[in-house]
Amino acid sequence: MPSVYVSCRLPEPIPAELARSFDVTAHPGDLPPTREELLAGSAGRDGLLVTPLERIDAELLDAAGPRLRVVANHAVGYDNVDVAAATARGVVVANTPGVLTRATAELTLTLVLDLLRRVTEGDRFLRRRGPWIWSPVFMLGSGLDGKTLGIVGLGRIGRAVAQLGEAFGMRVVYASPRPQQAPWKRLELAELLARADVVSLHCPLTPETRHLVDAQALAAMRPSAVLVNTTRGPVVDEAALVDALRAGTIAGAALDVYEREPEVHPGLLELEQVVLSPHLGSATVETRVAMGRLCVEALEAVLLDGRCPANALDPAAWRAAP
Ligand code: DGY
Repeated sequence: MPSVYVSCRLPEPIPAELARSFDVTAHPGDLPPTREELLAGSAGRDGLLVTPLERIDAELLDAAGPRLRVVANHAVGYDNVDVAAATARGVVVANTPGVLTRATAELTLTLVLDLLRRVTEGDRFLRRRGPWIWSPVFMLGSGLDGKTLGIVGLGRIGRAVAQLGEAFGMRVVYASPRPQQAPWKRLELAELLARADVVSLHCPLTPETRHLVDAQALAAMRPSAVLVNTTRGPVVDEAALVDALRAGTIAGAALDVYEREPEVHPGLLELEQVVLSPHLGSATVETRVAMGRLCVEALEAVLLDGRCPANALDPAAWRAAP
């Protein structure tokens, strides 16, 4: 059986499905492997199943050695993988697109509603056990109907968020490097930032999008607007965000991802107008099982069936392989 290293704990029945086809070595426990453990665990394997927490670069690929044919990345985002380095070594990389679109879009809308209707803030308020009474002006938030939703990055998840936003009566605009086939108006990023009531980030993390939302971008937003980030933390300059929130440059933020995960900027923890979740975008049982299945399928395609996986990021690596 081909030998596969798995860097994480996976939901049932994925471990059993993997074990049917592969000789599996799984990293034990809930914490990710250290770099040394990852390098040692990968050595001599035919395939790897990893998460966004593991950096898959030239050093790792070389440590894995010449038997390595496939890396299944248990995520749609693949900023952790040096795809070119894999391609150069004939290693196919596959990710898990599609199956987490809905879950991530739902989480995004959950955060928007939570922030604007002050649900978590109200929860914290009640738990402090202070006195309170209903009144016509108590803890007012704002609704979504008629508000402008600015989607930054109109991929699968951005589109799904746009559709959910429309279902709540929002007007959708988007910014993306290229025009897309879409019923929504495309704006330059600066114009989107100036017009949107809710700015929601859905672009991948690349050298171009690192700190896309910096002090200047935040200053371009409306003082009543809120920022939502369910893509990758480094797309936002977190220190600049804290400054903008403290200064009232923008009204609030809802974040599922962080610049130095799992660290959260201490300034964010102190602010009432901030809703935080611990990278839960794809965290439903159904979605995580579906993501696991796509990883199993990618490993099986390469190592058992001798074909390129459907979700290969670099089909060129497949063609180049011996
Ligand atoms: C992804 O798939 O990129 C997510 O961030 C992991 O849930």
